[in-house]
Amino acid sequence: MSELNVILLGPPGAGKGTQAERLQDDFHLLHVSTGNMLRAAVEEGTELGRKAKAYMDRGELVPDDVIIGVITDRLQEEDAQDGFLLDGFPRTRPQAEALEKALDDLGRSLTAALLVDVPDDVVVRRLSGRRVCQKAGHPYHVDTNRPKHDNVCDIDGSRLIQRDDDREETVRKRLEVYNEQTAPLIDFYDERGLLRRVDGTRTPTEVHDHIRATLATLRLEDEI
Ligand code: AP5
Repeated sequence: MSELNVILLGPPGAGKGTQAERLQDDFHLLHVSTGNMLRAAVEEGTELGRKAKAYMDRGELVPDDVIIGVITDRLQEEDAQDGFLLDGFPRTRPQAEALEKALDDLGRSLTAALLVDVPDDVVVRRLSGRRVCQKAGHPYHVDTNRPKHDNVCDIDGSRLIQRDDDREETVRKRLEVYNEQTAPLIDFYDERGLLRRVDGTRTPTEVHDHIRATLATLRLEDEI
């Protein structure tokens, strides 16, 4: 079966993490979330975490030279060889170019860049109600995606918390950064014929169905 190497693009709160959780099971893909990796590094107090923390707290991107090596190394590990789902990377043109080169050097290529599209006002509403589990960052929402038991993750039983960068002021900064530095990647991937758009304002299940159908079609086309 052909490998699926997919990027999830979209503003903060678009639902990238929510969809990645579902898609990794559908297609047996490795889910690589740079946000989760960086938060774990901050929690563990590693050198990467120390470098990243101040940027994350301000809602800014960590520098390209800090993140690029982490991801290109991760994609060479054993569990990434059958396909991956990148959530939160690339976020700048230098990151996208570095990914393209790293895959090229490995004789691999991207299958698609999926843009999960939602307007700014929806982002602010979603993120102010988001709760994530302390252990692995599994996402919930106080109104639209509640856990079975109050404040407890359905998947790993850890406590649900609010992320520090989900305060409204920081969310606005993250949106500004997205529009300036990450949105230009939409054209970057469109020019390469890899962009697929998904309406992220639909329910999580509808968005999931749409993406799953898109990926299944791409895999089929690749095999014919
Ligand atoms: P990161 O953790 O990647 O944050 P983000 O891109 O801002 O994305 P989010 O995790 O906020 O949102 P999401 O799209 O995953 O939405 P979710 O599924 O949770 O990055 C954090 C920071 O790390 C960055 O600011 C930066 O500092 C640094 N960083 C990370 N990667 C970097 C990189 N490559 N370069 C440099 N710096 C980097 O959903 C949101 C909420 O909405 C949830 O409550 C969910 O339940 C709900 N929801 C989801 N889908 C739906 C739906 N369809 N309908 C209704 N509600 C929904």
